[in-house]
Amino acid sequence: MEDKSEHVSVLLEETIEALSVKPDGVYCDATAGKRGGFAKKILEKLATGMVVGLDADPEAVESLKADIGGDRRARIYRANFRDMRELWEEEGLPGLDGVVMDLGLSTEQLADPRRGFSFSSDGPLNMKYWADGPGPTAADIVNEAAEEELTEMFFRWGERHARRIARGICDARRSGRIETTGRLAEVARKSAPPARGGRDASTLVFLALRAEANRELEAVEKGVRAAVDLMNPGGVLCVITYQSAEDGLVKRLTRKMARGCRCDEERESCVCGEGTAGIELVNKKVIVPSKEEIARNRRARSAKLRIVRKLTKEPQ
Ligand SMILES: C[S@@+](CC[C@H](N)C(=O)[O-])C[C@H]1O[C@@H](n2cnc3c(N)ncnc32)[C@H](O)[C@@H]1O
Repeated sequence: MEDKSEHVSVLLEETIEALSVKPDGVYCDATAGKRGGFAKKILEKLATGMVVGLDADPEAVESLKADIGGDRRARIYRANFRDMRELWEEEGLPGLDGVVMDLGLSTEQLADPRRGFSFSSDGPLNMKYWADGPGPTAADIVNEAAEEELTEMFFRWGERHARRIARGICDARRSGRIETTGRLAEVARKSAPPARGGRDASTLVFLALRAEANRELEAVEKGVRAAVDLMNPGGVLCVITYQSAEDGLVKRLTRKMARGCRCDEERESCVCGEGTAGIELVNKKVIVPSKEEIARNRRARSAKLRIVRKLTKEPQ
């Protein structure tokens, strides 16, 4: 029986197949998490090669170090993948044959009330992958952002009642700071009608705040560009997303990089004629989990995998 409190890797087989791990290759699991599901699978296939595991969350990194840090083929770092380029330079790490980015948060992070990611349990409104790291917490954003900023933020992540919820938050904070997940969920639920499909009214508000507190879209764009730069020709990058805003970004960005030109990123193909593609799209159609995987692991239901291959050594 599957333990629902433990993170189960999503699209693991499809991703490992796409990487086609070489025994002497160098790979990066850029979101290794506490359990390092992808890093461990890569390790199984390595002989003299190396896997570099990164995670922004120090608690996850400590657990992973205790688990596989003793393996001479594994190097584990607390690092945000947006800073991969700097890390590679500082540590003198070798060029990569493959990179995995499995975005978002793990089951363990979501379930831990101390982290403040979930509206289902009460805890401090933190929501940062590195809880004590630099930058504002979700509570700082909720209490200090202007009503218009909150509205825009909630809209960006798909909340139809963004305006009403932002106004509700601003009214509520006049009688004291909103410091807990329970209080924020209560305010969101009071401000908007129940969401469709039995979803909690605060679901997208929590998602938007987590993304904002961690500057996730910016990190994904920087991380994808850095990963491509750091890969050897033929290297493969696999990105798994769980939200349409993230998937849309990865889709537009990789299409643009595959054309290597000046055209508007919404365009399907190049019209400026200046394309110097550095990558090719391996799957034009997004890969999604099988029905069997979704039945085994509900968290997989929104996952999407995009794969690209590096063609040249030139930076994008
Ligand atoms: C879905 S979980 C990864 C689970 C892991 N791939 C597995 O299968 O065991 C996502 C992980 O990415 C980390 N993370 C999120 N954004 C990050 C970033 N910008 N840089 C590094 N790690 C990040 C989170 O802390 C979390 O541990």
